[in-house]
Amino acid sequence: MKSFKFKVKTHLEFGNGKIRNLGEWTKKSGYHKVGVILDKGVEKNKMIQDGIRALKDHDVEYVIFVNSAVEPDYDFLDEFKKKFIGAGFECLIGIGGGSTLDLTKGIATLVINPGPALSYRGFPELEHVPLPVIAVPTTAGTGSEVTYNAVFTNSQEKKKLGINSEYNYPVLAVIDPMILTECPISVAVSAGCDALVHSLESYVNVNHTPVSRMFSREAFKLLYNNLRKLPGGLHDVDVQSGLALGAYLAGTALMNSGAGPAGGLSYVLGGVYKVPHGFAGATFIGAVTTWNVQKGYRDYGDLYDLIEGADANQSTQEKNRLFAGCINDLLKQLGMPDVIPGYGLTSKDVDYIAGQYEMLKGVIAMNPVSFSMEDIQGIVHQALDPYVHQIVRA
Ligand SMILES: NC(=O)c1ccc[n+]([C@@H]2O[C@H](COP(=O)([O-])OP(=O)(O)OC[C@H]3O[C@@H](n4cnc5c(N)ncnc54)[C@H](O)[C@@H]3O)[C@@H](O)[C@H]2O)c1
Ligand SMILES: [Fe+2]
Repeated sequence: MKSFKFKVKTHLEFGNGKIRNLGEWTKKSGYHKVGVILDKGVEKNKMIQDGIRALKDHDVEYVIFVNSAVEPDYDFLDEFKKKFIGAGFECLIGIGGGSTLDLTKGIATLVINPGPALSYRGFPELEHVPLPVIAVPTTAGTGSEVTYNAVFTNSQEKKKLGINSEYNYPVLAVIDPMILTECPISVAVSAGCDALVHSLESYVNVNHTPVSRMFSREAFKLLYNNLRKLPGGLHDVDVQSGLALGAYLAGTALMNSGAGPAGGLSYVLGGVYKVPHGFAGATFIGAVTTWNVQKGYRDYGDLYDLIEGADANQSTQEKNRLFAGCINDLLKQLGMPDVIPGYGLTSKDVDYIAGQYEMLKGVIAMNPVSFSMEDIQGIVHQALDPYVHQIVRA
């Protein structure tokens, strides 16, 4: 067996009502003065309000900063960080979707490192250790609560980059599925598709390890079988528990294995055309999965067996063929990627995305089946052309 490493650096507290213990854990972690970055989308959520108020009961002083930026850019970071400089916070608590959790990680770096946000893009050398971050996700998707990534857009170049660093791993993740039962359906679907993409691309990734695959597999099982229960199961806490745990496991797998072409292309689509990240990944994952199966990739058979109601007696080849169909059927059931026309994509835009092969070469090379430039162009056109034609007809 090849040697490998596997890393999880975040203490996890998972369970219904766990948000109530936020104060206790913050105190136990030794923080007495914290900044809370709260997603505007959950500002009125009673469970979250109570959880934040409980900080006081444990003698933790806090200030709340509401974030209304969705998929924030570097300019926003530079503005937002001004509120934190000199405030003396020992820790930042991010409560929200991936945008807010990433913002919290970014602010934790910028409050203590003096350069403009853009100067820390990529994997920066940091002069000072960022503030510790506690992450409370309110979507089941990005896995940001357990990753070292923080994604931001460079609005000038219309590119999604990031401020990524080993210091970004949250010290604590509090995952409370009860919170997710109030998530709107379009947010839940986008986030869930993001996590599904993470589980699939980390599973097939050429850098997968036996342990990352355990995480990818379990993530896929939970995500696929619970996403199928949407929209009906949106308010069902068992469904949300499955999605939340699946998203966490998929994020862990992604950190320890890697992404793939659908993830890479999703950043181009999201950077330029503001398509929400999960919808963007969902636009390509069906075509990438079908491509891999058509080219003879056969490891999807194990995942097929994890789908509730799957026929275990099929041959490996047939399981793989059926698997690609199952992914495409689920995406269709969730209304994906039919949301794309809403973002006003034109055929010129599709040509632009299809032309980003050079930039995406690294992540494309992590797919177990190789893609030439023409192959990627084909995938992009296959995934997006039907929707462009819809716009033209409209
Ligand atoms: N750090 C990582 O490892 C990582 C991984 C994948 C994606 N991302 C990034 O995360 C971002 C996407 O995050 P997301 O999909 O979680 O969505 P999001 O954070 O962008 O939120 C989408 C919308 O839903 C609202 N919202 C969030 N939770 C809610 C709830 N419970 N109830 C009501 N409204 C709610 C938000 O206010 C926002 O308007 C993108 O920028 C993406 O690139 C980060
Ligand atoms: Fe993602």
